[in-house]
Amino acid sequence: MKIAIAGCGYVGLSIGTLLCARHDISFVDISQSRIEQLKSFVSPIRDPEIERVFADRPHFLATTDPSIGYSAARLIFICVPTDYSEEAGKFDTSKIESALEAIDRVNQDAVICIKSTVPIGYTRTLATKYPGHTVLFSPEFLREGKALEDNRNPSRIVVGHGKAEETAKKVADLLKENACTSPTVLICDYEEAESIKLFSNTYLAMRIAFFNELDTYAKTKGFDANTIIKGVSLDPRIGDFYNHPSFGYGGYCLPKDTKQLLSSYGDIPADLISATIESNKDRKRFILRKAKELAKGKKVAIDRLISKPGSDNYRQSPAVEILEALVEQDYDVYLYEPLVNEALFHGAKVIKDYEEFKELDALKLRPLLNEIGW
Ligand SMILES: NC(=O)c1ccc[n+]([C@@H]2O[C@H](COP(=O)([O-])OP(=O)(O)OC[C@H]3O[C@@H](n4cnc5c(N)ncnc54)[C@H](O)[C@@H]3O)[C@@H](O)[C@H]2O)c1
Repeated sequence: MKIAIAGCGYVGLSIGTLLCARHDISFVDISQSRIEQLKSFVSPIRDPEIERVFADRPHFLATTDPSIGYSAARLIFICVPTDYSEEAGKFDTSKIESALEAIDRVNQDAVICIKSTVPIGYTRTLATKYPGHTVLFSPEFLREGKALEDNRNPSRIVVGHGKAEETAKKVADLLKENACTSPTVLICDYEEAESIKLFSNTYLAMRIAFFNELDTYAKTKGFDANTIIKGVSLDPRIGDFYNHPSFGYGGYCLPKDTKQLLSSYGDIPADLISATIESNKDRKRFILRKAKELAKGKKVAIDRLISKPGSDNYRQSPAVEILEALVEQDYDVYLYEPLVNEALFHGAKVIKDYEEFKELDALKLRPLLNEIGW
């Protein structure tokens, strides 16, 4: 089948790479440099599985031109960013709308499957605006750095539809036929599928906030957080996973998806989501306060901005906020982060050589290990 992908980031690239073994894939992006990389079989994101597939130079088309990329496609996945707009108090969905306008100019009857995370109720509005297209919403649950691996082993496949159950089932089958496992498939209404995505990410954020609060308590009282976490997590209802304290949850999705879900509540009574968002702010304030307490001579050195080992970006990293606050309060801040090329990052001096960084006589913050000083 001819399938097009609008937006070649973590989501689009992994779905297109998953499907290109059996289908005719066109990658479309507004970024010329991304498309040039794809044409040379270079993955624009760091993902070992995608890099492995690209090494065999698979067959696909990559273009910035919608008329080349979209016109012959029967199915188009939209995988463009949906950043949270603080001014509007909801996701900025304009990139989905501009992708859909570009699609509709050259192809009026392709099935559209939105993979971007959207506000609850959004897909139905879009479907009403484009009656010629069957519009579906299928939430994406991948982890960055393991995007293709997660698409090969999905935890579940969810497809939301308006009145197109059969088409939704076909898209689910397509995603399932390329998976290594046999995941549970859930075909449901648009709003249920949209809710599944936002509630899943909010639960993950809440769990991170919980273990961070546990760690804040332990650090303040001088208890060993790891022992407490181990004891708590041995209860099978809680489980010994996803329980590592950090400097706060970050990354592209959790900060924005929690805010979007909270805004969807409107005046429906709820406390946990806003408490999770506040708890994450408290955690960053606690780390900052501790760093200031322990820093001798106002010198602080930050070892990596990334939130997960192996990550290729530091989007919404709590370490960046802590770095900025320290710089603003006239601390002498040093940074070791191979992903940063500049000599100065938000006022912090970037040290390229790790040996030189280790020798610095400064308080060391290691966000990846949840360490303040070592
Ligand atoms: N990153 C994740 O782990 C993840 C997981 C699940 C869901 N999501 C959701 O998926 C969506 C995409 O996230 P991502 O991390 O893949 O984004 P990304 O920033 O990695 O990639 C988005 C790509 O879309 C391109 N783009 C922007 N506007 C476009 C347009 N009009 N037409 C074509 N291409 C366009 C950009 O140039 C970029 O290459 C977001 O809604 C996000 O919330 C992300």
